[in-house]
Amino acid sequence: MTTPAPTSRSDWAAYNAAQAGRGRIRPLTARAVDALAADADLRARHAVELGCGAGVEARHLLALGLTVSTIDADPSIAPAMAALAAGGALDHRTGRIEDWDPLPAADLVLANAALPFVPRHAFDAVWSRIRAALVPGGVLAVDLFGAEDDWSSDAGTYLTRPEVEDLLRGLEVVELTERSERGPAFSGPKHWHVFTVLARAPRRPSDHSPV
Ligand SMILES: C[S@@+](CC[C@H](N)C(=O)[O-])C[C@H]1O[C@@H](n2cnc3c(N)ncnc32)[C@H](O)[C@@H]1O
Repeated sequence: MTTPAPTSRSDWAAYNAAQAGRGRIRPLTARAVDALAADADLRARHAVELGCGAGVEARHLLALGLTVSTIDADPSIAPAMAALAAGGALDHRTGRIEDWDPLPAADLVLANAALPFVPRHAFDAVWSRIRAALVPGGVLAVDLFGAEDDWSSDAGTYLTRPEVEDLLRGLEVVELTERSERGPAFSGPKHWHVFTVLARAPRRPSDHSPV
């Protein structure tokens, strides 16, 4: 029997409990911080993390001096996030990404393996809110999943490369990598089709490439 594909309504508690002990931030988070630090003092910058899971990335961002707003649909992480928020620089909410409207203004929008679980019918509005939240020069660091992924269905958002390129119009694309290969997952091996995106909002109107 195959494991059902995870969606925004899945029970993510076991996954996030396993991630809580992860000592290292995701590589995309590290690259996003480097991109932000190249341009700006990290202190007093604001990050928005969508689908924050166990809070490993948020803890790192807080330690660097950023203020952070996070959201995740999994209520099991709320106590740990509340403990992190006691420092005064984190605002966490339990809820769905697609219901957070508007998003706060952000120097960094980060979403490691989370946006694909937004239902397809809600994704375009979520993406517009992400684009609107980015301040001039703000950094966008997200994973998007592709149509060849084993989990692909309209219960989530699984995109073709032209669709991904379309989403990135008007941004300075620092990195767009595509991986389509079999590999391990929490639920067992599967075919992964993943676009990893690191991009930057235009700094001035003149930086805006034509749409
Ligand atoms: C694969 S995990 C990634 C978690 C974390 N970003 C990480 O890198 O470990 C996906 C996360 O997205 C959350 N999630 C899934 N659908 C969501 C939605 N529609 N709104 C908010 N969170 C969602 C899950 O609860 C889970 O924590």
